[in-house]
Amino acid sequence: MNRTLNIALPKGRLGEQVYDLFEKAGYGCPALREPNRRLVFENEEKGVRYFWAKPSDVAIYVERGAADIGVAGKDILLEYRPDVYELLDLGMGRCRMCVAGYEGFRDDLSRTLRVATKYPNIARRWYAARSRPIDIIKMNGSIELAPIVGLSDVIVDIVETGKTLRENGLAPLETVVPVSARLIANKARYKFRSGEIRELCARLEGLLKEDEGI
Ligand code: PRP
Repeated sequence: MNRTLNIALPKGRLGEQVYDLFEKAGYGCPALREPNRRLVFENEEKGVRYFWAKPSDVAIYVERGAADIGVAGKDILLEYRPDVYELLDLGMGRCRMCVAGYEGFRDDLSRTLRVATKYPNIARRWYAARSRPIDIIKMNGSIELAPIVGLSDVIVDIVETGKTLRENGLAPLETVVPVSARLIANKARYKFRSGEIRELCARLEGLLKEDEGI
C-alpha cells in the first residue's frame, strides 16, 4: 500500500513560504530547493511527495484525491466551494477580497451595476445578498483595467497592499471577506489517514503559535 502523503502546494511565493513551514514541521524534501522546473518532488524517507500546482488548481487536485492535502487561498475555496475539509488557517498570503472602483463612486440604482471580476460566484453572492442586480463581466487578470476603460463600474478583486489600485487611481470601496491560505484535505483520505494528517496539522499549528508568541 502506498503510504506517501501527497501534498499540493501553490506555485509561487506563497507556496515557498508554505513549504518553509512544512519543512520546519519535519516534512522537508531537499530536492524541492533545487533551481529547476520540475513539478513533483519526493522524500521517500519522510514519506512525502510535493506537487507545485497553479494556485487556483490546488483544490481540484485535493478534491479529486490526486493530492491528500494541499494549500489553497480562502478566495479560491469561496469561489469554487470544493468538497474538501478545511483544516487550518496558515495565516499566510493575507489579503482581502474587495469591491473597488473610483474613490467616491456612487452606485446609480436605476442601472444594472457592471462588475468585472475573476470571482463571479463571490461577486454574485455578495450582490444577491444586497438584492442589487448586476452584470458580471468575467475576467482573467488585470481586473483594475476594467473600470478605467469603462468596461465596468466596479471590480471585485483581491487587495493585498493596495498598490495596484492606488497606482491606477482606484480605491477599495467595501471589504467582502478577509483572505488567507488554508490547509485543506481530501475527505476520503482524511478518514483513512486521519492520524498522520492530524499529526501534521498539530505540528504546523504548534509552529504558527510559536510565531505568534503564544
Ligand atoms: C492580484 C490582484 C490585484 C493585485 C493586488 O493580481 O488581482 O491585481 O494582485 O495586489 P496589491 O494590492 O498588493 O497591489 P495578480 O498579481 O495575481 O495578477 P492578475 O492581475 O493577473 O490577477
